[in-house]
Amino acid sequence: MTQLQFQRHRRLRANATMRAMVKETYLHKEDLIYPIFVMEGENIKNEVSSMPGVFQFSLDNLGAEIDEVVALGIPAVILFGLPAEKDAVGSGAYHDHGIVQEATRLVKERHPELLVIADTCLCEYTDHGHCGVIEGEQILNDPSLDLLARTAISQAQAGADIIAPSNMMDGFVTAIRAGLDAAGFENVPIMSYAVKYASSYYGPFRDAADGAPQFGDRQSYQMDPSNRLEAFREAESDVAEGADFLIVKPALSYLDIIRDVKNNFALPIVAYNVSGEYAMVKAAAINGWIDEKKVVLETLLGMKRAGSDLIITYHAKEAARWLEEK
Ligand code: PBG
Ligand code: ZN
Repeated sequence: MTQLQFQRHRRLRANATMRAMVKETYLHKEDLIYPIFVMEGENIKNEVSSMPGVFQFSLDNLGAEIDEVVALGIPAVILFGLPAEKDAVGSGAYHDHGIVQEATRLVKERHPELLVIADTCLCEYTDHGHCGVIEGEQILNDPSLDLLARTAISQAQAGADIIAPSNMMDGFVTAIRAGLDAAGFENVPIMSYAVKYASSYYGPFRDAADGAPQFGDRQSYQMDPSNRLEAFREAESDVAEGADFLIVKPALSYLDIIRDVKNNFALPIVAYNVSGEYAMVKAAAINGWIDEKKVVLETLLGMKRAGSDLIITYHAKEAARWLEEK
């Protein structure tokens, strides 16, 4: 009798113990970073309509939220601020008592072991909503660098453990590294939004952080979704300028880019699972169209398999809880 020639892949899938033994990729709660929106005012806990389960918090309500994050074993939060007032140069971003600076102090006092990552940008603080200063409708590069460095320094002075610049001006890592070093913060790492595309998936975030551009769009500074080689150029320059982590953003439509960056650069890679990605999953889950727990864990696992070491995600609290259950 002739023997058919083929491979029996199913041998290694035969039972749960066997499957566990050959599992290649793991998702841990230690991989997760939880974004939090902090807002001037009192007694505020506003749910973001396009992001069910995500809230804007005033400082008096922030403590309970971070207690929960710590209890779940999530190692880090990334803070975004909504200031009371905005102006042309985004002064609220680098004010000593700005909203992110005050939130950072509060978190570090309450939970010194929880890492605070400060998002360093101007768009939530400028009245025009762009990530740098403007002249007419031009977003100016070099004059923005000085303000971004000031922002990073004031965040470090407030106790931020990691600086995460998201502005996409050229040279921001150089400017921020020089500023931090000169101010005595040589040991504060930079988690650079190195590869950040001009994406429509940021829509819900702009409601949450009140940071939508008031004219035009961000295509003159964020990347064209068509481009892959440009991601190599962006990552390469940030590495050369002294970045300590590289963020790729968004995540889901850019898993190929995460893999490229992982394979070509020897820094920890961070995927940003952005607001629009969260909103789509939540909408389907609320409608009962998907099994939310399974879909979220599969999505985050996919980002790990693509090469990300860490994931910034609005699902972090739920995912940490689900991972405990398993
Ligand atoms: C601000 C910033 C944005 C996000 C993170 N930092 C918005 C933008 O660049 O327009 C997006 C995060 C998300 O969608 O979850 N520079
Ligand atoms: Zn910005």
